[in-house]
Amino acid sequence: MQLVIVAGGFGKRLRPLTLTRPKALIPLVDRPLVLHILDSLPPSCDEAIIAVNYLFEQVRDFFREHESRIAVRVVDEPTPLGTGGALKNVERYLRGPFAVYNGDIVDTIDFDSLVQTHRKAGGIGTIAVGRVDDPSDFGAVEIVKGRIARFVEKPARGETASHLVNAGRYVFEPGVFDFIERGRPVSMEREVFPGLIAQGLTPYRFEGWWSDAGTLANYLTAQHLLLAAGRAKIAPEADVTAGSLRPPVYVGAGSFVEGRLGPDVVLGKSCKVGRASVVNATLLEAVSVDDKVDIASSIIGAGAAIGEGAHVRDSILEDGVQVPPHAEVLDDRVAA
Ligand code: GTP
Repeated sequence: MQLVIVAGGFGKRLRPLTLTRPKALIPLVDRPLVLHILDSLPPSCDEAIIAVNYLFEQVRDFFREHESRIAVRVVDEPTPLGTGGALKNVERYLRGPFAVYNGDIVDTIDFDSLVQTHRKAGGIGTIAVGRVDDPSDFGAVEIVKGRIARFVEKPARGETASHLVNAGRYVFEPGVFDFIERGRPVSMEREVFPGLIAQGLTPYRFEGWWSDAGTLANYLTAQHLLLAAGRAKIAPEADVTAGSLRPPVYVGAGSFVEGRLGPDVVLGKSCKVGRASVVNATLLEAVSVDDKVDIASSIIGAGAAIGEGAHVRDSILEDGVQVPPHAEVLDDRVAA
């Protein structure tokens, strides 16, 4: 079974990190986001087709260097075509029924069970659905007699009683292409799914966890889930002997920690954290943090330097940002 990974969006909600790198290649714990998907695929998935518009060359070059267990084809989309148009753009490479994964989600969804559910049901498509407490940020899915009966995108309070939401993992028959117009941007979720209901859309209820990683809050949730699921690690080449660690944390090779770290912290390679506090945050490679700094609920770009006594909360800092001593960076997006 072939898998299409739609990974061509601008990732605006993770700016400024996505000004210089595609969301698919943003590091999440110990590897670029898209590799969490590729590494989770079973042998029955024999090819991943990655549909990219924004920063296509970076994704193509990454996979030229990176050896994958399964064949990877990175396909350029010269203008952004939306999630539906992205599929239409790779139609020529598909040989039969195929799976589709949104590229900015990490999960424990079982690819083979999703495919089997689809085969048994015999409809035009199968959509993985997960339960959330508040569906207002998602595409809610209403189910009647085992089939999807209605979609409500980002429902207002009271608009639907359903707590089941589209998890961004699908299987489709090739007949789906009759419902996607060629040559213009098409949203799979808003424009195509409603029209597929009459052709038979099956929900796939999965066990395990699932998280979008496309906003600061969701990225940190995804990081927490991965750390809790066994990705926490202190690299043997890291020096944390002078620090105080509250698990789960991940500390990359060559990093040095004197301060308090965790829970839910990831340090990339070669970071230096003085007598500071870092909680629920990511420091990409070679970040330096001076004494008395307080970092929480934030992503700090590679090579950034945080001056003594500074506070950084609920913020994303681009690579190379220099935060002066005693500065307050609160709920901000800081470009270099
Ligand atoms: P924001 O700009 O922050 O909304 O992020 P995004 O552009 O990634 O949009 P969104 O999170 O809604 O997209 C869901 C998935 O579809 C992500 O994996 C995107 O990379 C992908 N995607 C969105 N738009 C396009 C597109 O026009 N072409 C392709 N190939 N993929 C897309």
